Amino acid sequence: MSAIHDVVIVGGGAAGLRAAIAVAEADPRLSVAIVSKVYPMRSHTVSAEGGAAGVIGADDTIEEHIYDTISGGDWLCDQDAVEAFITEAPRELLRLEHWGCPWSREPDGHIAVRPFGGMKKMRTWFAADKTGFHLLHTLFQTSLKYPSVMRYDEWHVTRLLVDDGRVCGVVALELMSGRVEAIYGKAVILATGGCGRVFPFTTNAAIKTGDGMALAYHAGAPLKDMEFVQYHPTGLPFTGILITEAARAEGGWMLNKDGYRYLQDYNLGTPSPGPVLRSMELGPRDRLSQAFVKEQEKGRTIDTPYGPVVHLDLRHLGEKLIDTKLPFVRELCHKYQNIDPVHELVPVRPVVHYMMGGVHTDINGATALTGLYAAGETACVSINGANRLGSNSLPECLVFGARAGTAAAAYAGAAAPAGPAVEAQAADEQRRLEADLRGRGGRERIATIRTEMQTTIEGAAGIYRDGDTLAKAADKLRELRERAAVAALDDASRTFNTELTTALELTGMIDLAEAIVHSALRREESRGAHQRTDFPARDDERFLAHSLVYREADGTPRVEHRPVTITRWPPGERVYGR
Ligand code: FUM
Repeated sequence: MSAIHDVVIVGGGAAGLRAAIAVAEADPRLSVAIVSKVYPMRSHTVSAEGGAAGVIGADDTIEEHIYDTISGGDWLCDQDAVEAFITEAPRELLRLEHWGCPWSREPDGHIAVRPFGGMKKMRTWFAADKTGFHLLHTLFQTSLKYPSVMRYDEWHVTRLLVDDGRVCGVVALELMSGRVEAIYGKAVILATGGCGRVFPFTTNAAIKTGDGMALAYHAGAPLKDMEFVQYHPTGLPFTGILITEAARAEGGWMLNKDGYRYLQDYNLGTPSPGPVLRSMELGPRDRLSQAFVKEQEKGRTIDTPYGPVVHLDLRHLGEKLIDTKLPFVRELCHKYQNIDPVHELVPVRPVVHYMMGGVHTDINGATALTGLYAAGETACVSINGANRLGSNSLPECLVFGARAGTAAAAYAGAAAPAGPAVEAQAADEQRRLEADLRGRGGRERIATIRTEMQTTIEGAAGIYRDGDTLAKAADKLRELRERAAVAALDDASRTFNTELTTALELTGMIDLAEAIVHSALRREESRGAHQRTDFPARDDERFLAHSLVYREADGTPRVEHRPVTITRWPPGERVYGR
């Protein structure tokens, strides 16, 4: 069985939906398929909390947002991409307003903005602390008005179809029925989010297994800057659930076990009664997570059954502010930690949150493979460099979702349909999946291998890394890749066969874990979220460069480097605080 469209979008979150709308608006004659392993409103975008950055205040400028982003990214961002992104972000946020997004407002009706980490001006638009929920609703409902957009909800894409370097569609498994189908498209856009689930402790939903990155990597497209993994400083210790940076933006304090605002010891500024832009609790995420490790080494964190924690103190903000601006924080603390932040301290620790790296694309989302595009966290354009600033990610999904959609529409409008070679590829993939759907012998459980992969990568590619540990992890991951290929599949049912989908996800996740570890091993310097204890300094001479990792035919990663695009902002020191 097969279906034919012009543009196939893999992923139904913010970037995928924004791309679909862009294609539909660019050319209503193009048929668009959104293929998502969950119903779009269950995409991880829904859990974004704090807000979306875009210059709007009279005291702010595009130039300042660009500079904050580039210095926050430790000069690894491509500056032409950052400039385009920051120029277009306010327009995208305003467009969402016109599509019905209920942005929070000031009493006089103006859009409300809040400060955010590493940004020296208030420019983060928000909808209380449920920004992702409202943004996703707005995009989903807007997408429904285009008759050319068709959805494949709960279909898991397992392979890209490639004809002589040209991507011509996907093969996907319908989860409810076990039906395997080729879905042809002249262009394919990957928008499946990041791969936080490669790590054991993450804010990312269970669906964020990096499928889009793995599909592209497997098909021959390089991944870029995979060693840069963002830890968010405030996750709940047991679940990893995000306590938004907005809590600190509204004036929350980080306290160590002595009740001391320890961030004042880390060149992030001095204490103040309220939010101080660019300082202390509103420093960038890489620096705050590194400060946590240093506090732990000094014995100043608090031990809990779920690891060491520090405290987030919101009590001085008062019930009225918390209920108005941080209602979700209160709800999450209550439901998942059984505490009330109005009266109690919130235990938090750093948690894997976001991948700065992803599929290497140009400024319009085009990858190294003709006909293949990527947008959102799946892609690395790159605007985030070595450390993304909080609230730059939602507008990234909008700006580059729209750009990828527009570029894919232009390409698909002129491209020829797929040739017969891809039909044979699709048939191969159908046979492979049909065989796996009948079960597979083997001694090992998928879950055992996944746990070993997560433990290995956390031990080697966490907040601090070193060459010896990374090299050992690289060996271990190669072994896990071989073991995963022959692990047992006991479930032979066709309906929601989660054992099979977990196995498919695991294969891709091990590839991505290897890409992270090999890229980290080759980068012999410390920059942003990549901190090597054996190479503690930034080394612009050797490493003002992006890592590109390719998958060799035997599955081994090969790392190359390419220059960063520097236009008007020469590399400098990252300075925070006053
Ligand atoms: O803390 C937060 O609300 C996260 C925002 C982001 O990652 O952009």
